[in-house]
Amino acid sequence: MDLLDKIKSKEAVIGVVGLGYVGLPLLMEFVEKGFKTIGYDVDDEKVNKLNAGKSYIKHIAEHRVQAVRGSGIFEATSDFSRIPESDCILICVPTPLTRNREPDTSYIEGTGRTIAKYLRREQFIVLESSTYPGTTEEVLKPILEESGMKGDKDFWIAFSPEREDPNNPKYNTRTIPKVVGANTEYARKLAKALYEAVIVKAVPVSSSQAAEATKLLENIFRSVNIALVNEMKMILDRMGIDVWEVINAASTKPFGYMPFYPGPGLGGHCIPIDPFYLTWKAREFEINTRFIELAGEVNTEMPRWVITKVMDALNEKGKSVRGSKILLLGAAYKKDIDDPRESPSFKLMELLLDKGAEVDYNDPHIPELPSMRMYKIKRKSVDLTEENLAAYDCVLISTDHSAYDWDFVVKHANLIVDTRDATKKVLENRDKIFKA
Ligand SMILES: NC(=O)c1ccc[n+]([C@@H]2O[C@H](COP(=O)([O-])OP(=O)(O)OC[C@H]3O[C@@H](n4cnc5c(N)ncnc54)[C@H](O)[C@@H]3O)[C@@H](O)[C@H]2O)c1
Repeated sequence: MDLLDKIKSKEAVIGVVGLGYVGLPLLMEFVEKGFKTIGYDVDDEKVNKLNAGKSYIKHIAEHRVQAVRGSGIFEATSDFSRIPESDCILICVPTPLTRNREPDTSYIEGTGRTIAKYLRREQFIVLESSTYPGTTEEVLKPILEESGMKGDKDFWIAFSPEREDPNNPKYNTRTIPKVVGANTEYARKLAKALYEAVIVKAVPVSSSQAAEATKLLENIFRSVNIALVNEMKMILDRMGIDVWEVINAASTKPFGYMPFYPGPGLGGHCIPIDPFYLTWKAREFEINTRFIELAGEVNTEMPRWVITKVMDALNEKGKSVRGSKILLLGAAYKKDIDDPRESPSFKLMELLLDKGAEVDYNDPHIPELPSMRMYKIKRKSVDLTEENLAAYDCVLISTDHSAYDWDFVVKHANLIVDTRDATKKVLENRDKIFKA
C-alpha cells in the first residue's frame, strides 16, 4: 500500500516532534481521529507527563490528555531511534530570534539531523514551525538528504504553517483551515489527505515557499495593524480622545475595517518574532522591509510609553516611581493563557525596577515567573486580596484575564493604570483609573 492510501485508510502512523503549544493539540487531533500517533520530544518531563495522562498546558484539559493516553494508540517518547515507526512526521519545534534579532533555525536543523539519522524510505516530513520562505527546501531538505536518500523521490517533504490560537473560544486546531505547500504534486496530495483526515479544510498552495510566506503575511498583517492602533492610541491620548471608544465606533462599519486593539506591547511566540524572519531573508534580495521595521519600532516602544503614563498617574498623587510599590496584573502575553513568552509584562517590570520602584505581580495562571531568555525576574504571584491591593501605590493592568474581578480591583486599589481598557465596565471610583 502506498503512503497516500495508508493515510486515507488511517493506517499511517503519525509522529509529532516537539510537544509544546502547537505539537500537543495537533497530535491529540490525530489520536482522536483514530491514527496511531507517537509524540517525540527532547524534554523528558513533557514525555513523562503525557505518558502519565497529565496536561502541562492550562487550556488543554487533563481529561482530554487522559483519554488520548488511554486510547492505546498514543505514546510519547524521547527515543528518536523510534522515528522509523512513523510514516508522517510533523515538526513543531521553536523558531525564536537570536540576540541579534536574526532567525534561529537551530531547533529545525537539530531536529532535521536527528531525523536524518533514522530516516527511512517512504516517510513524509512536514515542517510546521513558522519560518522564512525557503527553509523547508533550502535548510531542512538538504539536512534530511544527509541520510543518503533523495527528497521528493525516497522521502517526501512539505510545509504547513500552524495557526493555533491558544484558548480562542471560536476556533480550535480542528476548525482552523490549514495551508499546505509542497514542491511536488504527490507531496501536496499527501499533505492535503493528511490534514483533511483531522481538520476541517486543507488549502494547498503550489510550493513550500508560498506556504511559509503565507504564515509570515498573516503575522506581519497583525503586527502592522497593532502598531497602527498603538500609534493611534498615543496620538488620540495627546488629543484627549479615548482610542477604545473610537475603535468600537469604527468597528460598526460592516466592511473595509476590522478592529485591532492597543496594548502594552507585543507578546507571544509569533507576532513579535516572525516578521523579522522575512526581514532577514529579504536582505538576501536587497530589499528593506520598511513596514515591518516601523511596526516593530512602534510596538517595541509601547512599554516605555506605558511607564510614562504610570509616572504621570503617580505624579498626580504627588508620588514618584522611585520608592513606589507597584503591582502588575497579568504576566501572560494575552488573556486567559499561561504562556509568558515575549510578554511585555516583563519589560514593564524591568523598566519600573530600573526606575527604583518595588514591583510585584499577580497572575492566576502563572504562580511563579519562569526564567526567560531576556529576563530573570524572580517573583511569586501575590494574592489579590483587599489588603494587598490597598498596600500598593499603583496597580498596572498588563493582561486582562477573565478571572479578574475589576470592580473589586478598582474598589481596593489606590491608583490604576489600565493598558487594556479592562476596567471599562467599572462604574464606581473611576477617578482612580488612568488609561494607558
Ligand atoms: N504557540 C503558538 O500559539 C503558535 C502558533 C502558531 C505557530 N507557532 C509556531 O510553532 C512552532 C512551535 O511553537 P510552540 O509554541 O509549540 O513552541 P513550544 O516551545 O511550546 O514547543 C516546542 C517543543 O519542542 C521541543 N523541542 C525543542 N527542540 C527539540 C528537538 N530538537 N527535538 C524534539 N523536540 C524539541 C521543546 O521541548 C518543546 O516541547 C514555532 O515555530 C512557533 O512559531 C506557535
